[in-house]
Amino acid sequence: MGYVYAIANQKGGVGKTTTAVNLGASIAAAGHEVLVADLDAQCNATVALGFSRAESPSTYDCLVGGIDLAAIARPTAESRLWLAPASPDLAGASVELARIAGFEHRLETALGDTRERFLFTLLDCPPSLGPLTVSALVAADRVLVPVQAEYFALEGLAGLLETLELIRRELNPRLEIAGMVITMHDGRTRLARDVEKELRSHFPDLVFDTVVPRSIRISEAPSFGRPVIAHAPASAGSAAYLKLAREVAARA
Ligand SMILES: Nc1ncnc2c1ncn2[C@@H]1O[C@H](COP(=O)(O)OP(=O)(O)O)[C@@H](O)[C@H]1O
Ligand SMILES: [Mg+2]
Repeated sequence: MGYVYAIANQKGGVGKTTTAVNLGASIAAAGHEVLVADLDAQCNATVALGFSRAESPSTYDCLVGGIDLAAIARPTAESRLWLAPASPDLAGASVELARIAGFEHRLETALGDTRERFLFTLLDCPPSLGPLTVSALVAADRVLVPVQAEYFALEGLAGLLETLELIRRELNPRLEIAGMVITMHDGRTRLARDVEKELRSHFPDLVFDTVVPRSIRISEAPSFGRPVIAHAPASAGSAAYLKLAREVAARA
């Protein structure tokens, strides 16, 4: 049986999409079937894996139309890596969903046989704790939280942890925290080192050993529609995501 991970943090620009795409590709490279499901109307994971913003069917059809997530999976250029594309319609879905009784369980229901087909399913969440993220947290077994190594990193984490506790109590008792991964770390700055130290002292068991460095190779890879392990296999960013994949698999 496969595992479903929500890649979540209500802050934007912390590396959720980058982590969903590159962690997914790295786990696939290790020999497992992986599905990246894009739940953000911005469609960044979809574009980063070489697709357009106008794919149909999309995760919108799973949430609103009840189509199975596995049924919309498309093979990507990377072996064993599949994508459930997003579409801009998802922007409206947040509003539509909020009006439907029991919307929280829509994605969970749409998982169908996803866990049988994919050992890892990574749900790339939008930057809010709105209905789409709630649906993802209800469908998921684990939540993986990317945290950017910058001054306000800890701000918002308390709120996120409270939300996770609430979801666990009310909607999804299975939900566990897989861990927090520090992203965009610039080891040359004292700030990044201090933020890392602070995160590790606040959450000693939660922060992954792997730290993802700030890397131009990582940030430019989406413009080629490929994950960093394909775009720049010898780069530090590629090594970091491969190492993170081993840690995530070891904790699974
Ligand atoms: N390790 C990294 N090094 C350099 N740039 C990064 C790194 N991780 C993410 N980025 C860039 O930072 C921006 C925000 O990342 P993204 O993954 O889209 O965040 P989120 O999905 O949380 O909004 C993107 O432009 C992305 O390319
Ligand atoms: Mg994103």
